[in-house]
Amino acid sequence: MRFRIFGSIVICVLVGFGAFGVSRWAFKPTLRSLADARGLDFGVSVGGSGLRTDPYGSTTAREFNLVATENALKFEPTHPNPDEYTFDEADTIVEFAEAHGMSVEAHALVWQNQNPDWLMNGDWTRETLMDVLHDHIATVVGRYRGRIKYWVVVNEAMTDEGVLADNFWMQNIGPDYIEWAFRWAHEADPDAVLLYNDFNAEGLNPKSGGVYNLMKDLLAKGVPVHGVGFQTHVYYVWSPPPAEIAANMQRLNDLGLQVQITEMDVRIDQPVPEGALEMQADIFREVLGVCLEAENCTAFSLWGLTDAHSWIPYFYEGWGSALVLDGDYRPKPAYDALIETLEKHK
Ligand code: G3I
Repeated sequence: MRFRIFGSIVICVLVGFGAFGVSRWAFKPTLRSLADARGLDFGVSVGGSGLRTDPYGSTTAREFNLVATENALKFEPTHPNPDEYTFDEADTIVEFAEAHGMSVEAHALVWQNQNPDWLMNGDWTRETLMDVLHDHIATVVGRYRGRIKYWVVVNEAMTDEGVLADNFWMQNIGPDYIEWAFRWAHEADPDAVLLYNDFNAEGLNPKSGGVYNLMKDLLAKGVPVHGVGFQTHVYYVWSPPPAEIAANMQRLNDLGLQVQITEMDVRIDQPVPEGALEMQADIFREVLGVCLEAENCTAFSLWGLTDAHSWIPYFYEGWGSALVLDGDYRPKPAYDALIETLEKHK
């Protein structure tokens, strides 16, 4: 009898520990669960074909509550010929997001890259190109009306010196291509949050000053611009000082604009030097911390799901390892740093 009672107690204790262990495992926080609790949009740029496969799809849905369309909604893939629009990849991404309760950041309506030849080599007057751009924006934004939370309307229009770049749109339409793009996007989806997005304009420098002045001018004209995206493609030995990023976010907040970290990665030269992954983790920690402490930072996104899906090795020879999961989906120190930072700012 005594033996039976003792046995039962041992079994109860073991079952209790087991349940505790299982529940701890089941409730292990993810980036998504912590971001959801905090009300932050925490995103990753994705491609449509990957989402149909695992672990790409399952990892995206587990760790993020926002997906950014890495290439699918750029001009060339959506509008390959003057009278042809294609939305297969973008539809896949938007439907995936809806099926998994995620938001979408669409990227990007007006840019100098990834434009089709018919557009770049066309013989345009200001009026005919304005018509093309208006039709493009009305069609692409209109198709997803009410389904896309954030639209990057204009991407990378500023030079390092802080003046508008002399790009294709500037040459053929003039500086007001920017305001028209925002107006047309707003007409096509009045509920979407409309962003200007750029790189090397995170800290305080002539370029971010130019972006600030552009925003001020647009707002003074009543243009529907709602926020600024800081791309944040940085590297492990250098990133803008956090205090400068915070000051830049604050001055945009003073204009009534939201800000986002839109495309963060931290590249490392290959092979990865000793200590580099920890330095990378510190930079991710610092930038997320600045976003979480800013009143107006609404989203924080990574540019690619794993090191195997990053643009870096293709554009920067000899560099890579820029994201927070390695090529085999294993969390790197940077992943733990993001989790810790979100936990600290609950
Ligand atoms: O889809 C074609 C495929 O049909 C073809 O076989 C293949 C051969 O080269 O190319 C494929 O297109 C590539 C596309 O990515 C999709 O993978 C393009 O060549 C390649 O140039 C393109 O690179 C993208 C790059 O923008 C273009 O400038 C990257 O994936 C994308 O991550 C990158 O994203 C930009 C943001 O839009 C703006 N901010 C900077 C960021 C990094 O450059």
